[in-house]
Amino acid sequence: MAPTDRISMLPATLLLLLNAAIAVAQTRQLLAINSVVKQQAPNPPFFTIPSGSQLAVSIAVCSGAADSVVPRFFVTNSSSDASPGSQGGTDIFEIVVNKGHGNWTGTFPNGGVLGVEDANRVPFEIGLSNGIPIHEVVPGRPLLGDTTATQALLFSHALSPQSLQDPSYPNYTLPSANLSAPAAPSNFANLTLIVSPTSNGLATMEQAACMLLQQKSSGTIETQSLWLRNTSGWRSEWLVTGLTPKTNYTMYVIENSFKVSGPIYFVTKSSSFSCSLVSQLPYCPSIAYAVPLPAPPAPRTAYTSATLPESITKPLLSSLTNFTTVLTTFACGRDFYSPLVSCADCQRAYRTWLCAISFPPLRRLRNRPTFCRAPAVPLLPCIETCTATDRACPNFLGFRCPLPRFNAAESYGVGFIDSGIEGVQGGGTTGAWSDDYGNVWCSSGH
Ligand SMILES: *[C@@H]1O[C@H](CO)[C@@H](O)[C@H](O)[C@H]1NC(C)=O
Ligand SMILES: *[C@@H]1O[C@H](CO)[C@@H](O)[C@H](O)[C@H]1NC(C)=O
Ligand SMILES: *[C@@H]1O[C@H](CO)[C@@H](O)[C@H](O)[C@H]1NC(C)=O
Ligand SMILES: *[C@@H]1O[C@H](CO)[C@@H](O)[C@H](O)[C@H]1NC(C)=O
Ligand SMILES: *[C@@H]1O[C@H](CO)[C@@H](O)[C@H](O)[C@H]1NC(C)=O
Ligand SMILES: *[C@@H]1O[C@H](CO)[C@@H](O)[C@H](O)[C@H]1NC(C)=O
Ligand SMILES: *[C@@H]1O[C@H](CO)[C@@H](O)[C@H](O)[C@H]1NC(C)=O
Ligand SMILES: *[C@@H]1O[C@H](CO)[C@@H](O)[C@H](O)[C@H]1NC(C)=O
Repeated sequence: MAPTDRISMLPATLLLLLNAAIAVAQTRQLLAINSVVKQQAPNPPFFTIPSGSQLAVSIAVCSGAADSVVPRFFVTNSSSDASPGSQGGTDIFEIVVNKGHGNWTGTFPNGGVLGVEDANRVPFEIGLSNGIPIHEVVPGRPLLGDTTATQALLFSHALSPQSLQDPSYPNYTLPSANLSAPAAPSNFANLTLIVSPTSNGLATMEQAACMLLQQKSSGTIETQSLWLRNTSGWRSEWLVTGLTPKTNYTMYVIENSFKVSGPIYFVTKSSSFSCSLVSQLPYCPSIAYAVPLPAPPAPRTAYTSATLPESITKPLLSSLTNFTTVLTTFACGRDFYSPLVSCADCQRAYRTWLCAISFPPLRRLRNRPTFCRAPAVPLLPCIETCTATDRACPNFLGFRCPLPRFNAAESYGVGFIDSGIEGVQGGGTTGAWSDDYGNVWCSSGH
């Protein structure tokens, strides 16, 4: 299911969170479709499920360790006045809770009942929906931009993927070098950031939103905005300040109060680190990391396109404008230099490459301090970023990447993507440019 469906299916306004207001309920509580009930030691321990052709019952446990003994949940779709439990019977199914989440989806032609055993005083939520389960760990993961000693640029998982609209002949107009930021979707999910020192052990707790939302989040959110980093979709971007240097943090994003994305981990730099964070450049949308620049003009503590020095933006935009001018001397859209790629692909690949070389971040070697100015090795763009441009562009442009067997390692981060051995050329993390702790092996620009 596409992430967009997930948003539209559960608008926050439709979800009423009914708290257990009645202390001694004598009658069974009726669960409403597309709502969540929060409970603790329910009496009686049964909930009535209305009839429905396809309903998803979900459970979230709101306290305790991920491996603690939790209440047991039994659902039946046989009738709406049964008393399902561990004694079993026809059409009685146990909803097994794993790390705080459990779910069961099925047909309820005659309605049904959810029964709770061993409730003790453990708080939990029951969600009932006619779509996907309300409580879930979403497949998309949060993303680390970068950190300084006390700041972090953090992104949520991606929602609302965008499709590329390429120009077509005879009006083959490529986007201008100085792209403007696309309009953000108006009805976006409510995303809540949770950041906590890894030593607090959030990842060992029940991994349900109702558990994680009770944890205090570290630092101060200086800005939160929506950003289309790439076509995978819109992400919420947070600039968090006031973190502690040289500290491992755990991060989660909660979507619409009940869905969990994460955890991912990141580490802040030592207090001597003096680079500044740069992000929100519409013409280089995926740049979000620390570069060797002094602190930006107050009150902002990170650069955006509004504050980035012209000495950086002018040559970048000029190169891209000139490249586009030369590229469009080809009869783009009328003639084809490849059955697979177009002039628009070539311009995108060149933009990615140019952004990567214009904002060289710093090579961070695992378990060694990163200094911003003195001994930093400027990070090289991954050779893959270069070959992507080479492949996407017509030959007449003469865009050529160095080949690995001819000294490519001197100017590109060769092999850091492709193989699995760490610490040697050809090392790094398998299939990834960076790991969850923010060790970056080369600059992909993606
Ligand atoms: C209850 O769900 C089970 C499993 O999906 C199904 O086989 C059974 O037919 C359902 N019972 C009724 C009465 O629909
Ligand atoms: C529902 O529960 C099953 C295990 O019974 C699990 O594999 C699946 O990921 C759960 N679905 C969601 C959306 O959490
Ligand atoms: C050509 O395409 C550009 C960008 O899509 C658009 O702004 C312009 O109005 C179009 N021109 C014509 C003549 O259709
Ligand atoms: C790029 O466009 C923005 C507005 O979209 C403008 O403020 C800025 O001056 C432009 N930059 C250059 C270098 O032309
Ligand atoms: C978008 O960026 C993310 C994170 O870097 C990456 O995993 C994903 O593959 C990118 N998507 C596209 C379509 O390039
Ligand atoms: C952060 O966690 C990693 C991985 O567990 C560990 O190797 C590293 O020493 C930790 N760093 C700090 C500063 O605690
Ligand atoms: C967004 O979600 C958080 C966490 O559940 C909640 O506290 C907040 O009220 C929600 N905001 C809106 C505007 O719904
Ligand atoms: C782009 O072309 C103009 C005009 O030919 C030239 O003055 C400028 O130096 C070029 N820019 C770059 C970055 O090469």
